[in-house]
Amino acid sequence: RVFRLEDYRPSDYLIPRTDLSFVLSPDSTIVTARLLIRRREGVAPGTPLNLDGDGLTLRLVEVDGKLLEETEFSAPPESFVLHRPPAKDEFVLTIVTEISPSTNTALMGLYRSNGVYCTQCEAEGFRRITYFLDRPDILSVYTVRIEASRAEAPLLLSNGNPGATGELPDGRHFAVWHDPFPKPSYLFALVAGDLGAIHDEFVTMSGRAVALAIYVEHGKERLATYAMDALKRSMKWDEEVFGREYDLDVFNIVAVSDFNMGAMENKGLNIFNDKYVLADENTATDADFANIEAIIAHEYFHNWTGNRITCRDWFQLCLKEGLTVYRDHEFSADERSRPVKRIAEVRTLRAHQFPEDQGPLAHPVRPRRYREINNFYTATVYEKGSEVVRMIRTILGREAFRRGMDLYFDRHDGEAATIEDFLKCFEEASGRDLSQFTLWYHQAGTPNISATSAYDAAAKEFTLEIEQSLPPTPSESRKRLMHIPLQFGLVGPDGQDLSYAAVEGTAVEDGVIHVRKRRHSIRFSGVEERPIVSLNRGFSAPITLSLEQKTEHRVFLARHDSDPFSRWQSFNTILTEATIAGSKRILGGGEAEFEPVIAEVAGAIVENENLERAFRALALTPPGEADIAREIGSNIDPDAIFAARDALVRRIAEANRDQFLAAYHRLEDNGLFSPEAASAGRRALRNVLLDYLATTQDGPDIASAHFGSATNMTDRAAALAVLVHRHCERAEAQDALHAFEVTHGDDPLVMDKWFAIQAAAPGPNTVDAVQRLAAHPRFSIANPNRLRSLFGTFFSGNQSGFHRADGAGYRLFAETVLEVEKRNPQVAARLATGLRSWRSLEPKRQELAREALVSIASTKGLSADLSDIIDRTLA
Ligand code: ARG
Ligand code: ZN
Repeated sequence: RVFRLEDYRPSDYLIPRTDLSFVLSPDSTIVTARLLIRRREGVAPGTPLNLDGDGLTLRLVEVDGKLLEETEFSAPPESFVLHRPPAKDEFVLTIVTEISPSTNTALMGLYRSNGVYCTQCEAEGFRRITYFLDRPDILSVYTVRIEASRAEAPLLLSNGNPGATGELPDGRHFAVWHDPFPKPSYLFALVAGDLGAIHDEFVTMSGRAVALAIYVEHGKERLATYAMDALKRSMKWDEEVFGREYDLDVFNIVAVSDFNMGAMENKGLNIFNDKYVLADENTATDADFANIEAIIAHEYFHNWTGNRITCRDWFQLCLKEGLTVYRDHEFSADERSRPVKRIAEVRTLRAHQFPEDQGPLAHPVRPRRYREINNFYTATVYEKGSEVVRMIRTILGREAFRRGMDLYFDRHDGEAATIEDFLKCFEEASGRDLSQFTLWYHQAGTPNISATSAYDAAAKEFTLEIEQSLPPTPSESRKRLMHIPLQFGLVGPDGQDLSYAAVEGTAVEDGVIHVRKRRHSIRFSGVEERPIVSLNRGFSAPITLSLEQKTEHRVFLARHDSDPFSRWQSFNTILTEATIAGSKRILGGGEAEFEPVIAEVAGAIVENENLERAFRALALTPPGEADIAREIGSNIDPDAIFAARDALVRRIAEANRDQFLAAYHRLEDNGLFSPEAASAGRRALRNVLLDYLATTQDGPDIASAHFGSATNMTDRAAALAVLVHRHCERAEAQDALHAFEVTHGDDPLVMDKWFAIQAAAPGPNTVDAVQRLAAHPRFSIANPNRLRSLFGTFFSGNQSGFHRADGAGYRLFAETVLEVEKRNPQVAARLATGLRSWRSLEPKRQELAREALVSIASTKGLSADLSDIIDRTLA
């Protein structure tokens, strides 16, 4: 079944009030829903009422307190139909269903995680709890009564503010929750179990005290303190930067260990994958701390962008997700280093969104059709969705952007809105026409900008020729021209931007070229010296850039551009081009060779104390094998790319050995741990140097000393990765793996790192290692985090290992995806995206990958989740 944007139609009935009662028990939970149903104005009395359902056992139905006869309704598995509702405007429909949380392995609806009852309703999980109009434009005020055994579940939570509680016979008790804010069903949540907690308080800008709590497994309370700190900073930041205040008396977060994605913004009761809550220096890396901060903020920010203003339908998913990612990016940029954060964002976008946009699963930021909405929680909707909001800010400027946001909050509070509603606010607040810009929401694919430049010294004129092109994507062969805001600078010989007297050819405003036509010829006059152009500064537009530039000019920008992103980009491009050239030579039977200037620049970066350490770490991180593959685009041989990249790393390390070693020692740990950006930056730079040094003569010794002396997980995991990836045949690597397992064997989240590091090991032996690890006692096919660590890392993060020339990786892929699908279709579908770029492989691997995909496609009874991904991948 295909859902189409143009088929949207308001429902015939509304549900202004929802009273739910849960009598919890693991195998048989009884859910009583009392729904106040209101016929929409203009709908004929008696029009049948059609509710959504999924796998429910119906026990009883009443209308206005009167039991219904079997003939008055029907309840096939997917729905509930009341054939002839009462003719009056409003009536009360009571439905009793029975569900089994303990056997709910799909982790959608009400399920059990480590003995804790919890829910995940977005996108369409609520219909696995009771029959409902399970669509985001049905806003209802919920009152929830939860009853459970006190021994099993002393803690009973739902959305909103707490109400009555009390004891019941037989050791049972109850709690009532009321959420005064009308909300869609996907934001419903319930948690019941035996958990520990940390408590705090936040006083909002208007002086209201909000009780904060984070619930975790007993004994792990201490590990939630960083998350709590991040929450309070998020609440403050949203007041200061967006003027948004929290609106309930309580804000609760619960960490659970079995969760399909990162976290969920349920009103007043966020539920988190515990990976994004629990942290201390012995168990979490700096990247984990940064993720926790970002995701805590993300879910909190949804309270306004998602909850107070929600989506009309699931086609509008980016309305809440793209915008909320934009907001969490801004938060992290303010809390940490803005340039470093920007580089990290771009790396993520390129690693996850570009391959999506450039492959068979490409879809617009606002899709027009879907078979399974769960498959659209993608990097395109989230990350490119955020980039689009960021471009609106670039085009409008900070102030008009803020006015547009204020108008949006003001005008649509309490509504289920659309992208058109959102854009209109910015047009009105700025007086600008965004109609061409809107294509960013509607057209899939990554636009390309190609540019050439010329300087006429006599005339003091600098000319830029710019051309935009849009590659075709599935079902969109003809593209319209986009409005692309390109931030730029003309860099002079001293590194400062040159001024120009006048510009001719297109709209250039405040350092931004507004590309709107296919071709632009832009002439800058009064340019006193020959400039080097720095284009797409700050990555102002999510495009690919083909800019012919000599290596010496790139080197100049890498050393001198005033825009830190472009500086990083220039050196990254040098490394990428060198690796591509190296891989071509290797494929031709030769050896990779590199210009000495590359290693020279690397050495200069390490020493440049004017640059933040985290920035230096990013600048020195060579592009990944997948990055190189994406740049090459077709006929990919992952082994050649691996060899070329490895040769480049060795070359840089060899040329800078003494200097890198000295810097490595200067950056040594001072013993005291802080998760803050500056400390993390020191560790990041030192660990990048470690990776280079590991390729030199006493590499294994340095790495195993690093491992042995590490006083935090960042250093420990970095050293383990270096040993396993670079020296797996050495005893040092095996010893470190063993030591890590002995220390952390009882901590599943830390063992995820152990699994992931091994799954990411390059080379032909990893397929077998992964298969062996799947039988490890600490692995579990039932837990999404374990699956992502081992198989997710292998299928999506290991080029040379997964794409083994004989296709063994692909056979493991098919086997695993089918096995996981039996329990959890959503996670299986996500794993299955690991082969989305199969068409860019060289012919032999392509054929083997196709066989694996076809073997999945020809399996009987596939879920909608998996068949959707596989069919589109093969199409
Ligand atoms: N809304 C959640 C978030 O972005 C994610 C929910 C994902 N749901 C899904 N069915 N994949 O924070
Ligand atoms: Zn979100």
